[in-house]
Amino acid sequence: MMTIHLTETANALVASDNGLLAMDESNPTCNKRFAAHGIPQTEERRRAYRELIVTSPELSECISGVILYDETIRQQLTDGTPFAKSLDALGISPGIKVDTGAKNLAGHPGEKITEGLDGLRERLAEYAQMGARFAKWRAVIAINDSLPSRACIEANAHSLARYAALCQEAGLVPVVEPEVIMDGSHSLKRCAEVTQEVLRTVFDQLCDQGVSLEAMILKPNMILPGLLCPEQPSLDEVADATVNCLLRTVPAAVPGIAFLSGGQSPELASARLRAINIGGKSRAPWALTFSFARAIQQPALELWNGNDSNVNEAQQELLHRARCNQAARQGKRETEMERVST
Ligand code: G3H
Repeated sequence: MMTIHLTETANALVASDNGLLAMDESNPTCNKRFAAHGIPQTEERRRAYRELIVTSPELSECISGVILYDETIRQQLTDGTPFAKSLDALGISPGIKVDTGAKNLAGHPGEKITEGLDGLRERLAEYAQMGARFAKWRAVIAINDSLPSRACIEANAHSLARYAALCQEAGLVPVVEPEVIMDGSHSLKRCAEVTQEVLRTVFDQLCDQGVSLEAMILKPNMILPGLLCPEQPSLDEVADATVNCLLRTVPAAVPGIAFLSGGQSPELASARLRAINIGGKSRAPWALTFSFARAIQQPALELWNGNDSNVNEAQQELLHRARCNQAARQGKRETEMERVST
């Protein structure tokens, strides 16, 4: 019974060419982004910014789920409505980031292990009671000449799988996010090899832990070279490499793949999502959608700049980026302004 309900939620999250909006930055990360624009780093400004996002008119036409952070799911809109309740009323599923961050992996310099399993069962029960329908856990995998180690891949895959099993037990759809990061000078091919190994290990672990693949969403990186790599590929090369890697590793039972943006510019992330859908839709058994944070929020954050008189303009920009990504899922461009010819 529970699995049917979870499967319905997972399918609804990736339906109708919609996507997910991640606004689950931890307080330190949100403060860092505010500091870059001189915005006061207070609980009230974080709340006001998150209110701007969730009250953007017509958001539900292109966003099916919003990922919140612990502070935000406990906050309310100015009129006193809890964030989760206001999203629910719009037909947008509230989600929650439940990991407690990536920490140094003992004995493996330069590598991280994501923590948060201790007490997770109790926290998930509380979040479900607060209205969350799904959850997110992010693992971080770095590439250099000697990384990642098997130890890092296995430890993170195991944690992701234990998190996912606990989510399903609690009635929440797990979004499983193993992110191979873009830092460094590695090639597209190396990113493909590493991501393939990571995804194979993650799905092995998910199966070992008894996770229902029909009731989860995968949130991976696109296959991209490091930011410092001198050779930057075309949109079609990224799309080919990404779809091929996913076809080799992700079981068809998974309803949807929702990419993270990982620090790509908003325009490039949309253009690549579009190329992935044009090149991959006919071959892919899963929906290919987005779960972006920076690539949807960043232009709106800059327009808002901490000043409430800029809310309407910022909301229009946020909606524009969300619509660009919805159009990308359909293999279209939202406007003629979206020209990226990489
Ligand atoms: O965990 C990271 C977010 O959910 C996605 O963020 O799109 O800025 O990479 P991003």
